[in-house]
Amino acid sequence: MECGTSSPVVLPPVLKGSARKAPRPVGPLAGPRKPWRRFLSRVVAGFDRTVNRLGLGRWLHKFSLGKLSFPSYKVPLPGCGPALTGLKVAFLTDLHAGCSLGSSGLDRIFSEVEKRRPDLVLMGGDLTNTRVREVLFLERGISRLSPALGIYAVPGNHDYFEGKGIGRWRSLLEGMGVRVLVNEAVRVGRGGDSLWIAGVDDLTEGRPDLRITLEPVRSGEPVILLSHHPDFFFEAAAAGVDLTLSGHTHGGQIEPLRFMMGHTKFKYWEGWFEQEGRRLLVSRGVGCTLLPIRVGAPPEIPILQVE
Ligand SMILES: [Fe+2]
Repeated sequence: MECGTSSPVVLPPVLKGSARKAPRPVGPLAGPRKPWRRFLSRVVAGFDRTVNRLGLGRWLHKFSLGKLSFPSYKVPLPGCGPALTGLKVAFLTDLHAGCSLGSSGLDRIFSEVEKRRPDLVLMGGDLTNTRVREVLFLERGISRLSPALGIYAVPGNHDYFEGKGIGRWRSLLEGMGVRVLVNEAVRVGRGGDSLWIAGVDDLTEGRPDLRITLEPVRSGEPVILLSHHPDFFFEAAAAGVDLTLSGHTHGGQIEPLRFMMGHTKFKYWEGWFEQEGRRLLVSRGVGCTLLPIRVGAPPEIPILQVE
């Protein structure tokens, strides 16, 4: 049964990309970080911090954030009960706190989210840029939120950047009232109807395990999966996940040069994709990394309404 059968179902406007050209599962799962990756991380972090110290970097980032939009989509979620019709979900990803974006900027962003009165706030990873302590920049903004069904987050590759694991990152976020999902799922509900919010570890820096994640979910119950990396969609759709929410790509960040990024093997750069009736939304996210500029890939925070 689909909830909201009395009102017309509005499908997301565009299904684009090459989901059907993805014939093989993603993997292998990431192991410990290799020395050359540690070296590359240090180079990127050093470059990032240098740019951040420049006034021009902050100005460019502010200019980019001036284009932040909140596109809204009505999304059918098979199996959900009528009490969940109209459930509003805000999806924030790739904030990259610390990359020209501090506490006051994030406070403004979260205040805008709160104005839209979401019932559920989901965060798709890369909440920080290069250091675990950057997560503290989120505290004031998160305190603005009051979604009835809670705030949930998964880690992205940048949340592992410092190389110390995500234990402290996780405990700091949970101290702010965010439930971090690392290969876990929780049931949320209202009015006697429920759905599952699931989250997997990052595909490139963590150890995602969909089998463990979905273990508590009963067959036929609706699932929204958070996966920072969009290439996990192939496996998620095959496992029956109704809706996967991802980020990671920034829409290319500098869209004409996105072919150089290599952030998605299956060209899940941005927007909606479909496979076997399951859907993936890849958000361009909010922040930047490396260079505080976006070209042809403006920041966004999608607002989904369950139909
Ligand atoms: Fe990112």
